[in-house]
Amino acid sequence: MSDPKTFFLDEEEIPFEEGQTIIQAALSAGKFIPHLCYHPEFKPHGSCKLCTVRIDSRTVTTEDGQTVKIPGRAAASCTTPAQAGQHVESEVPEILDLRRTLVQMLLVEGNHYCPSCEKSGKCMLQGLAYDLGVMDPHFPQYFSKREVDASHPDILLDFNRCILCELCVRASAEVDKKNVFALSGRGNTKHLICNSESGKLGDTNFAATDKAANVCPVGVILHKRHGFEVPYGQRRFDIAPISDNPEQYAPVKEQV
Ligand code: SF4
Ligand code: FES
Repeated sequence: MSDPKTFFLDEEEIPFEEGQTIIQAALSAGKFIPHLCYHPEFKPHGSCKLCTVRIDSRTVTTEDGQTVKIPGRAAASCTTPAQAGQHVESEVPEILDLRRTLVQMLLVEGNHYCPSCEKSGKCMLQGLAYDLGVMDPHFPQYFSKREVDASHPDILLDFNRCILCELCVRASAEVDKKNVFALSGRGNTKHLICNSESGKLGDTNFAATDKAANVCPVGVILHKRHGFEVPYGQRRFDIAPISDNPEQYAPVKEQV
C-alpha cells in the first residue's frame, strides 16, 4: 500500500487521494474553500476564481536581517491537483480581500436585488458575501437590462442574475444530455442563451426535473409557482453560514 499523502492548508495537514484537486481534498476533510462554479458532480471549470489560494509562499531573511514573505503562486484550487507536502494558504488577508473584490464585481454586474429575489437565503453568491463580510458593492452598479424568459410552463429565467458559472450548461450537456444552455458573446456582452430556434426556453425540451433546472447557485433558473416557501430564519444559509458543513460540497463517492 502506498503511503497516505498529505498537504498543508493554512498549516493544517489535509489527506488526499491521488488525482484529487486541492478543493476536493479540503472539502472532504471538512475545510471549506469558497467557490461558485465548482460542483462536486461536475468537471471543474475554473471561471469564478473564488476558490483562489496561494501555494508555497516562502519566508526569506534579507541581508539587513529583515524577514520578508515572498508570496507563492495564486491558483484556482478547483483545477489545481493536490500535491504531497505543498503549503496552501486560503484564509489569509490578501486572499480574503481578493475574494471580497470578486464577489463585489459579481454583485454589480447583475441585478442582485436580494430583498426581492426568491433565492435569497439559499443563494451561494449571497451566502459567500455574508461569509466574507462584504458590506457594500464598492463598484458602480452596471444595471443590466436582459429580458426575462417566462416562455416555459414550469421555469422562469432571470438572466440579470447570471454569474456565467456554466453549471446549467454542464448539467444539461453531461447529465440531461439535452444541451439546452450555452454561453454566447465575449467580455461584458457574454450571456447565457437557450438552444432553440426562437432562443426561448419554452421551445426546448427542457423539464423542471432536469438536473440543469436544479443546479443554479443563484436566482436565474426559478421554478414557477414555487416561491418564498421557507420563512425567514429557516432558509438554508439563515440556519448555518455557507462555510459550515463543508461535507455537503465534498466529492460524491462512486457507488461500488
Ligand atoms: S443560469 Fe445559473 S447555473 Fe447557469 S450559468 Fe447562469 S448562474 Fe450559472
Ligand atoms: S470554484 Fe474554482 S474557479 Fe470557480
